[in-house]
Amino acid sequence: MTKLSISIIVSFLFLAYLSVVQGLNFDITKYGGTPNSDITQAFIKVWKEACASPGAAKIVIPSGKYRTSGIDAQGPCKSPIEIQVDGTIQAPSDINQCHKGIDQWIRFGTMDHLTLSGKGIFDGQGAATWKQGTAAWSKNHKVNNKVSMNMGFYFVNNSIITGITSKDSKNFHFMVYGCENITFDGVKVSAPGDSTNTDGIHLGKSTDVKILNTDIATGDDCVSLGDGSRKVLVQNVNCGPGHGISVGSLGKFQNEDNVEGLTVKSCKISDTENGVRIKTWPSGPGTLTITDMRFEDITMNNVRNPIIIDQEYCPWNQCNKKNPSKIKISKVIFKNIKGTTKAEEGVVLICSSGVPCDGVELSNVDLKFNGKPAKAVCSNVKPRVSGIAPKCEAYTPPPSG
Ligand SMILES: *[C@@H]1O[C@H](CO)[C@@H](O)[C@H](O)[C@H]1NC(C)=O
Ligand SMILES: *[C@@H]1O[C@H](CO)[C@@H](O)[C@H](O)[C@H]1NC(C)=O
Repeated sequence: MTKLSISIIVSFLFLAYLSVVQGLNFDITKYGGTPNSDITQAFIKVWKEACASPGAAKIVIPSGKYRTSGIDAQGPCKSPIEIQVDGTIQAPSDINQCHKGIDQWIRFGTMDHLTLSGKGIFDGQGAATWKQGTAAWSKNHKVNNKVSMNMGFYFVNNSIITGITSKDSKNFHFMVYGCENITFDGVKVSAPGDSTNTDGIHLGKSTDVKILNTDIATGDDCVSLGDGSRKVLVQNVNCGPGHGISVGSLGKFQNEDNVEGLTVKSCKISDTENGVRIKTWPSGPGTLTITDMRFEDITMNNVRNPIIIDQEYCPWNQCNKKNPSKIKISKVIFKNIKGTTKAEEGVVLICSSGVPCDGVELSNVDLKFNGKPAKAVCSNVKPRVSGIAPKCEAYTPPPSG
């Protein structure tokens, strides 16, 4: 062999090695997904190739405006995969034009090592749906039967979502279900405070979830933990407007899983309905435990219910309160929580008369209502109090009706 052919072979092998190690780039514009067009078909093509790539693959959606009726990206993929979105992707504003049979507009399913990055915006264009939702709501307390959340992760492990924005979702912004080790870092959620059912990040049956350095402004819960949420860290999150950080509601359905291990730390909650909340239905079939909850170093700014455990959660009288909740709540610590409340009762702890709360702690809870210390009302719980903290007063249930 000549020296030249050897060096050609060597450099070819080197390039092949580089593409495996550094990853292959898949630019969606090379697959027909150009700005100002519908990228649904282009994404199907690029996903098929990238997901089959023997080395780490990176799909790039460069800056510009794009549309899609929906994306359903299913794994498993051969290698780790990154999707860098720098553009703005718009959903159809008419929910009937979103792809059918899937609860999310953009969905990722059954994969390992996904990274979703970039400065891109997923715009759900939800305004028309919220209006219909509100009308349906006032009629029969049912909202958005057609769902179309902005984005879902189903059975996705070891994955990172970073940089991107979810805007004006028609329903929940992010649904995380059946996932293990998934991190949201530096994400933004934005929708108006009066948009209906637009929870920021909802978790269900997922373990080891981190939500870090994230700003959530929306019309419903900023972060909500459904059944089977375990080992969750919410840190350095700004929430508001919205309904706060919630565990539950639980106990309405059979076969729910326990919720255990939540830390909410260094968060700022502003102009919300609730601050940190645990809610369970009375009279439900569910017998579960909610344990190991830690809410620490949190600033409340103009929040209606900064700290609330509500085991008589029963909106719009959809249940009867005759039988107490069967869900046992234990080891809940509220520590270093300060700021202002919009209601006189800054701390509301309504536990179940059937299974009272255990191991609830209030430590340095310094909340002010109109400049005066806020009150605490409690039932079926004897919180341990240390440092500054309001003393429990008896809770008087509202007249039933
Ligand atoms: C995710 O992790 C769980 C638990 O380790 C495992 O059972 C499941 O198969 C994994 N899923 C994928 C898509 O890798
Ligand atoms: C969690 O996922 C990240 C991102 O893929 C990875 O770097 C990390 O090692 C994973 N942690 C565990 C405990 O597997």
